[in-house]
Amino acid sequence: SIVEKTILVTGGAGFIGNHVVRRLVNKYPDYKVVNLDALTYAGNLENVKDVADAANYSFVKADITDLEAIRSVFAVYNPDVVIHLAAESHVDRSIEDPLVFVKTNLMGTATMLQVAKESWSESNYDGKLFYHVSTDEVYGSLGEQGFFVEETPYDPRSPYSASKAGSDHLARAWNHTFGLPVIVSNCSNNYGPYQFPEKLLPLFINNIKHVKPLPVYGKGINVRDWLYVEDHARAIDDIMHKGKVGETYNIGGHNEYRNIDLIMLLCKLMDKKLGRPEGTSEGLITYVTDRAGHDMRYAIDATKLKEDLGWEPSLQFEEGLSKTIDWYLDNEEWLESVTSGAYQNYYEKMYGE
Ligand code: NAD
Ligand code: DAU
Repeated sequence: SIVEKTILVTGGAGFIGNHVVRRLVNKYPDYKVVNLDALTYAGNLENVKDVADAANYSFVKADITDLEAIRSVFAVYNPDVVIHLAAESHVDRSIEDPLVFVKTNLMGTATMLQVAKESWSESNYDGKLFYHVSTDEVYGSLGEQGFFVEETPYDPRSPYSASKAGSDHLARAWNHTFGLPVIVSNCSNNYGPYQFPEKLLPLFINNIKHVKPLPVYGKGINVRDWLYVEDHARAIDDIMHKGKVGETYNIGGHNEYRNIDLIMLLCKLMDKKLGRPEGTSEGLITYVTDRAGHDMRYAIDATKLKEDLGWEPSLQFEEGLSKTIDWYLDNEEWLESVTSGAYQNYYEKMYGE
């Protein structure tokens, strides 16, 4: 686009956020990209180091639950578009400590929506967009058959997914009641560089590297639908530019794996890359107590996104997985910098080491 716009990305120092920020900064020199992040345990400025000096980038440390702080960010930067990613994102943490999920995901989203409404309503929302980024977990859990479509009724089952479902409802309520231009997208499991090592893939890659046990929850038969994080960032870019206000878009890679099959593939690839005898990593697999309320299967039908906006995933999974493993193996320093004391305490509590 040739129009100069200011894009406020919340959660831009997190896993998906850094890929969104990087893409926008590099692809749209005429846009001003403002990264707003509270830098919780999950947010790290290391993740956006490569764009930190770009002329069209700025960072502001603020908490989305702090109404006055968000008001002053809007007063200073006057954004045209909000891409709202900031959230508490880890299901296991939401079981340990649910209240912070309610606070950040519900109060934080309501605060962002309310301040956007306050600042934009005078201009009748002309040229404005509030883009709320959400998850397929709001739809609940599937059996062996079927897919989540945009019309699938909400059925969240963990404190994380319930708080995300609530935040989606808030976004749609601000659209319906106040006319705030809102788009929502719901995406499947992302994987790729810069994911915090509490999530399955970076945790297991790191443990394999250090020959530590691989804690597989339950029987390992739960199914997730994996999408390379840069494909999600591209979908967000497409939806922001071509999506219809008031609509919802499902994003996914049609790429379902049972956890255990994914883990076996990971073990095989890593043995090869690390020059270890075949079967070494597999030997680290340890079945542990299942996650409470563990959703069995997620699978996204992204037909609408393909038909309306022409988006399709770009990477074959084995290629994406191989790239991802290489990135973590090559970025030991990144891992050390994000695994702070706070992370250590969490890790000890969860995994007892
Ligand atoms: P993440 O945990 O890696 O990053 C979250 C970011 O939000 C961090 O930078 C953190 O510092 C920031 N943040 C947290 N609380 C904040 C607060 N109160 N104020 C300001 N910033 C705060 O999460 P992610 O995996 O990058 O997910 C980003 C968004 O995408 C979330 O809304 C999540 O629900 C959604 N999502 C994630 C996935 C996935 O597979 N990771 C899939 C679909 C949707
Ligand atoms: O579906 C989208 C969601 O994907 C996002 O909304 C969440 O923010 C994101 O964290 C992710 O949620 P999951 O719970 O699916 O991801 P996680 O990496 O935690 O777990 C993936 C699967 O692996 C899940 O079935 C649980 C299992 N698992 C996870 C961990 C961390 C294990 O078996 N062992 C583990 O140690």
